Amino acid sequence: MHALDQTSSPAQAPTPTRAMAFERWASPIHSPSLNYERHLKESLALLRAVYQDLSPLKQASSLGAEDVVITHMIESLGLPIAVFVLDTGALHHQTLALLERTQARAKLPIEVYKPAHADVLHFVSTKGQASIYRSLEERKACCDFRKLKPLGQALKGQRAWITGLRREQSSARSEVGLTDESELQTQGWTKVNPLVNWSWSDVWHYIEIHQVDYNPLHDEFYPSIGCAPCTRAISMGEEFRAGRWWWEDENAKECGLHVRKA
Ligand code: ADX
Ligand code: SF4
Repeated sequence: MHALDQTSSPAQAPTPTRAMAFERWASPIHSPSLNYERHLKESLALLRAVYQDLSPLKQASSLGAEDVVITHMIESLGLPIAVFVLDTGALHHQTLALLERTQARAKLPIEVYKPAHADVLHFVSTKGQASIYRSLEERKACCDFRKLKPLGQALKGQRAWITGLRREQSSARSEVGLTDESELQTQGWTKVNPLVNWSWSDVWHYIEIHQVDYNPLHDEFYPSIGCAPCTRAISMGEEFRAGRWWWEDENAKECGLHVRKA
């Protein structure tokens, strides 16, 4: 049933539809940027180049809109690059359902990395999961064992990882480059960011043109999707990442995946 179907009961919450996402995120007001074609060519060329120069490498996918676009581009180029998802044990059911659909359909290997049971048990039994709301230290500890440790396992032996970072996402990301070697010395890998120059509308334009499957939470005003306990919908006019760790100071709002390490 379409969300705007006149026959739907007003008491019923509308079922999000693909049409809703495009009304919200890619309406004519948000049509793709004038540079869309140039950005697309740049991203495809970068993916080809890094496959040649930086293999072995993997794509990190949170299954958000940017990441499903990148996976689709990698597949369309026929590059045998594995995709990995960090299943923190705290993802939304919508994200887990998209993961299942992706695993069933994708031509690329879709790897899933999870936190160690012992780490989860230790944290939950000693600190309690709700401690993440009370203390920045505990929140970061949770991100550490649920995301950063599994990230290290995912990237073992890799020379590079591909992410969906875009400059527009936040001021902290406004200077991200197409490639980033700031972790090369300490971690041994280069970060590759093919969508740095893309606008949010560019992302949705690509999804629409190629009919890419996406997380339905995007239809419910979740532009940026992380773990369920740490992500809320945003209101009109709020910043793109306002729904992430919303109780924290603006400067603290990163989980460590993308914080520059000295
Ligand atoms: S975060 O640091 O705040 O969590 P964000 O959600 O904006 O990051 O995602 C930025 C990029 O980090 C994604 O495009 C993806 O490449 C990677 N990423 C984030 N979360 C995950 C995840 N759970 N699994 C794999 N990659 C992820
Ligand atoms: Fe834990 Fe929240 Fe970090 Fe997810 S985002 S790992 S639930 S603190």
